[in-house]
Amino acid sequence: MALTIFILRLAVCILAFPVYLLDFLGLWNWICKKSLPYFLARFTVMYNERMASKKQELFSNLQEFAGPSGKLSLLELGCGTGPNFKFYPPGCRVTCIDPNPNFEKFLIKSIAENRHLQFEPFLVAAGEDLHQVADDSMDVVVCTLVLCSVKNQERILQEVCRVLRPGGAFYFMEHVAAKPSTWNYFWQQVLTPVWYLLFDGCNLTRESWKALEWARFSKLKLQHLQAPLSWELLRPHIYGYAVK
Ligand SMILES: C[S@@+](CC[C@H](N)C(=O)[O-])C[C@H]1O[C@@H](n2cnc3c(N)ncnc32)[C@H](O)[C@@H]1O
Ligand SMILES: *[C@@H]1O[C@H](CO)[C@@H](O)[C@H](O)[C@H]1NC(C)=O
Repeated sequence: MALTIFILRLAVCILAFPVYLLDFLGLWNWICKKSLPYFLARFTVMYNERMASKKQELFSNLQEFAGPSGKLSLLELGCGTGPNFKFYPPGCRVTCIDPNPNFEKFLIKSIAENRHLQFEPFLVAAGEDLHQVADDSMDVVVCTLVLCSVKNQERILQEVCRVLRPGGAFYFMEHVAAKPSTWNYFWQQVLTPVWYLLFDGCNLTRESWKALEWARFSKLKLQHLQAPLSWELLRPHIYGYAVK
């Protein structure tokens, strides 16, 4: 099996040779960072349609984590184009962070469409270092489709724990590795290297539930789900929330 995967990976890499060449020339990263927001803006429309009921279910108890003032301070890590805003309760104060500054244009549009929320200035940063955000300052942190792409999941979750107030919650919805010994896992393994390059570091075979189980949360509510998406490779999902 390992040899079959190796050979198929090689075949895929040969097909994707132009992209590898651009990467070798140092141009691909720029192209990818510029074009990804356009791709994602389209993808998230489809994703939100298919996942609407799951997102509603996931975010239905957000307000329970509001502080004494009744206002929710929410940090969205890897916010992308901002497809989760419509699920947040009125008056919620949202801070958006993403390492890719090219999302700002799309974010401005989403912000204009969500007048029920208050927005802090957009921060360009990776989740591994949130020094702009004070300790214990957030009621809720949200990541959707982000843990697949981050360099260091353990580090991100440490930072999440630092910025959450005690009793605050981390909400997640992520695509993950399929069950071993399924065809889906086989194809995920074949396509992982080229997918990683095409989609800005997105890793199809990440077992993100492990990092969540190991992180220092006091409570973890995590469910596995076969998401109703047309891309089989992205169907295996986890979603839920963890309390600091
Ligand atoms: C697939 S997109 C998902 C965007 C959005 N959260 C959504 O649900 O549509 C992955 C996002 O994670 C961001 N990202 C990549 N590495 C990151 C990191 N180390 N910390 C925070 N965000 C990161 C990317 O720039 C991109 O916006
Ligand atoms: C993707 O994740 C898997 C499982 O954590 C890991 O073994 C693999 O090295 C990762 N691939 C890349 C390109 O980071």
